[in-house]
Amino acid sequence: MPVSSSTPGPLSLRSLAALLRSLLLVVVLLGCAVAPARADGGALFEQHCAGCHVNGSNIIRRGKTLRMAALERQGLASPEAIATVIQAGIGQMSPYGSVLGDDGVQQVATWVWQQAELGWPKSS
Ligand code: HEC
Repeated sequence: MPVSSSTPGPLSLRSLAALLRSLLLVVVLLGCAVAPARADGGALFEQHCAGCHVNGSNIIRRGKTLRMAALERQGLASPEAIATVIQAGIGQMSPYGSVLGDDGVQQVATWVWQQAELGWPKSS
Protein backbone atom coordinates (compact mmCIF):
# COMPACT_ATOMS: atom_id res chain seq x y z
CA MET A 1 0.00 0.00 0.00
CA PRO A 2 2.59 2.62 0.99
CA VAL A 3 4.83 1.46 -1.89
CA SER A 4 2.19 1.73 -4.59
CA SER A 5 1.03 5.14 -3.41
CA SER A 6 4.54 6.60 -3.03
CA THR A 7 5.92 5.37 -6.36
CA PRO A 8 4.17 7.89 -8.61
CA GLY A 9 5.29 10.73 -6.35
CA PRO A 10 9.07 10.55 -6.94
CA LEU A 11 8.51 9.63 -10.57
CA SER A 12 6.42 12.67 -11.37
CA LEU A 13 8.73 14.84 -9.31
CA ARG A 14 11.61 13.56 -11.42
CA SER A 15 9.82 14.32 -14.67
CA LEU A 16 8.81 17.72 -13.36
CA ALA A 17 12.46 18.39 -12.56
CA ALA A 18 13.46 17.25 -16.04
CA LEU A 19 10.84 19.51 -17.57
CA LEU A 20 12.09 22.47 -15.54
CA ARG A 21 15.67 21.70 -16.57
CA SER A 22 14.82 21.70 -20.26
CA LEU A 23 12.78 24.88 -19.88
CA LEU A 24 15.76 26.49 -18.20
CA LEU A 25 18.00 25.34 -21.03
CA VAL A 26 15.66 26.85 -23.63
CA VAL A 27 15.57 30.15 -21.74
CA VAL A 28 19.37 30.25 -21.47
CA LEU A 29 19.83 29.41 -25.16
CA LEU A 30 17.29 32.03 -26.22
CA GLY A 31 19.01 34.58 -24.00
CA CYS A 32 22.34 33.85 -25.68
CA ALA A 33 20.85 34.16 -29.15
CA VAL A 34 19.01 37.42 -28.52
CA ALA A 35 21.17 39.33 -26.04
CA PRO A 36 24.22 40.19 -28.19
CA ALA A 37 22.14 41.61 -31.03
CA ARG A 38 20.31 43.87 -28.62
CA ALA A 39 23.12 44.83 -26.30
CA ASP A 40 26.12 45.19 -28.59
CA GLY A 41 26.55 48.54 -30.35
CA GLY A 42 29.23 46.97 -32.52
CA ALA A 43 26.81 44.38 -33.86
CA LEU A 44 24.22 47.08 -34.58
CA PHE A 45 26.89 49.08 -36.37
CA GLU A 46 27.80 46.07 -38.52
CA GLN A 47 24.15 45.61 -39.37
CA HIS A 48 23.06 49.19 -40.06
CA CYS A 49 26.10 51.40 -40.62
CA ALA A 50 29.04 49.39 -41.92
CA GLY A 51 27.59 49.35 -45.43
CA CYS A 52 28.56 53.03 -45.79
CA HIS A 53 30.92 53.45 -42.84
CA VAL A 54 33.08 50.33 -43.00
CA ASN A 55 35.81 50.70 -40.36
CA GLY A 56 34.67 54.24 -39.65
CA SER A 57 35.12 55.43 -43.23
CA ASN A 58 32.48 57.00 -45.47
CA ILE A 59 32.08 55.46 -48.90
CA ILE A 60 29.70 58.18 -50.11
CA ARG A 61 31.16 61.43 -48.73
CA ARG A 62 34.85 60.71 -48.40
CA GLY A 63 35.62 63.47 -45.89
CA LYS A 64 32.70 62.74 -43.57
CA THR A 65 34.15 59.75 -41.78
CA LEU A 66 33.62 58.63 -38.19
CA ARG A 67 37.24 59.31 -37.28
CA MET A 68 38.01 61.78 -34.54
CA ALA A 69 39.53 64.43 -36.85
CA ALA A 70 36.46 64.41 -39.11
CA LEU A 71 34.03 64.44 -36.17
CA GLU A 72 35.88 67.41 -34.66
CA ARG A 73 35.83 69.24 -38.00
CA GLN A 74 32.02 68.80 -38.16
CA GLY A 75 31.49 69.72 -34.52
CA LEU A 76 30.30 66.18 -33.82
CA ALA A 77 32.98 65.10 -31.37
CA SER A 78 30.77 63.74 -28.58
CA PRO A 79 28.57 60.68 -28.10
CA GLU A 80 25.55 63.00 -27.82
CA ALA A 81 26.24 64.68 -31.17
CA ILE A 82 26.75 61.29 -32.83
CA ALA A 83 23.48 60.06 -31.30
CA THR A 84 21.71 63.08 -32.80
CA VAL A 85 23.14 62.33 -36.24
CA ILE A 86 21.99 58.71 -35.99
CA GLN A 87 18.58 59.72 -34.67
CA ALA A 88 17.83 62.51 -37.15
CA GLY A 89 20.16 61.83 -40.09
CA ILE A 90 22.47 64.39 -41.64
CA GLY A 91 22.91 65.63 -45.21
CA GLN A 92 22.67 62.62 -47.50
CA MET A 93 22.41 60.17 -44.60
CA SER A 94 18.91 59.03 -43.64
CA PRO A 95 17.76 58.98 -40.02
CA TYR A 96 18.06 55.67 -38.15
CA GLY A 97 16.13 56.59 -35.00
CA SER A 98 13.03 54.60 -35.88
CA VAL A 99 15.03 51.57 -37.01
CA LEU A 100 17.28 51.39 -33.96
CA GLY A 101 15.01 52.78 -31.23
CA ASP A 102 16.35 55.01 -28.46
CA ASP A 103 18.42 52.26 -26.83
CA GLY A 104 19.91 51.19 -30.13
CA VAL A 105 20.83 54.77 -31.03
CA GLN A 106 22.60 55.19 -27.68
CA GLN A 107 24.43 51.88 -28.02
CA VAL A 108 25.67 52.59 -31.53
CA ALA A 109 26.62 56.19 -30.63
CA THR A 110 28.62 55.02 -27.61
CA TRP A 111 30.33 52.33 -29.66
CA VAL A 112 31.18 54.72 -32.51
CA TRP A 113 32.54 57.24 -30.01
CA GLN A 114 34.73 54.57 -28.38
CA GLN A 115 36.05 53.51 -31.77
CA ALA A 116 36.83 57.14 -32.67
CA GLU A 117 38.69 57.62 -29.39
CA LEU A 118 40.67 54.42 -29.99
CA GLY A 119 41.39 55.35 -33.62
CA TRP A 120 39.15 52.63 -35.08
CA PRO A 121 41.51 49.81 -34.09
CA LYS A 122 39.75 47.28 -36.32
CA SER A 123 40.52 49.33 -39.43
CA SER A 124 44.18 48.67 -40.16
C1 HEC B 1 23.51 54.65 -46.94
C2 HEC B 1 24.78 55.06 -46.43
C3 HEC B 1 24.88 55.37 -44.93
C4 HEC B 1 24.52 54.57 -43.87
C5 HEC B 1 23.91 53.18 -43.92
C6 HEC B 1 24.89 55.30 -42.67
N1 HEC B 1 25.46 56.49 -43.00
FE1 HEC B 1 26.28 57.82 -41.71
N2 HEC B 1 26.70 59.06 -43.24
C7 HEC B 1 26.44 58.81 -44.57
C8 HEC B 1 26.76 60.00 -45.36
C9 HEC B 1 26.61 60.14 -46.86
C10 HEC B 1 27.22 60.97 -44.44
C11 HEC B 1 27.64 62.41 -44.75
C12 HEC B 1 26.37 63.25 -44.65
C13 HEC B 1 26.62 64.68 -45.06
O1 HEC B 1 27.12 65.43 -44.25
O2 HEC B 1 26.25 65.01 -46.20
C14 HEC B 1 27.18 60.35 -43.12
C15 HEC B 1 27.60 60.97 -41.98
C16 HEC B 1 27.66 60.37 -40.73
C17 HEC B 1 28.20 60.99 -39.55
C18 HEC B 1 28.87 62.36 -39.48
C19 HEC B 1 30.33 62.14 -39.87
C20 HEC B 1 31.08 63.38 -40.25
O3 HEC B 1 32.34 63.31 -40.23
O4 HEC B 1 30.48 64.39 -40.61
C21 HEC B 1 28.04 60.09 -38.52
C22 HEC B 1 28.48 60.27 -37.07
C23 HEC B 1 27.39 58.92 -39.09
N3 HEC B 1 27.18 59.13 -40.43
C24 HEC B 1 27.07 57.79 -38.37
C25 HEC B 1 26.35 56.73 -38.90
C26 HEC B 1 25.89 55.62 -38.11
C27 HEC B 1 26.21 55.39 -36.64
C28 HEC B 1 25.19 54.81 -38.95
C29 HEC B 1 24.41 53.56 -38.60
C30 HEC B 1 23.30 53.74 -37.70
C31 HEC B 1 25.23 55.39 -40.26
N4 HEC B 1 25.93 56.56 -40.19
C32 HEC B 1 24.68 54.82 -41.39
C33 HEC B 1 25.95 57.64 -45.10
C34 HEC B 1 25.46 56.57 -44.37
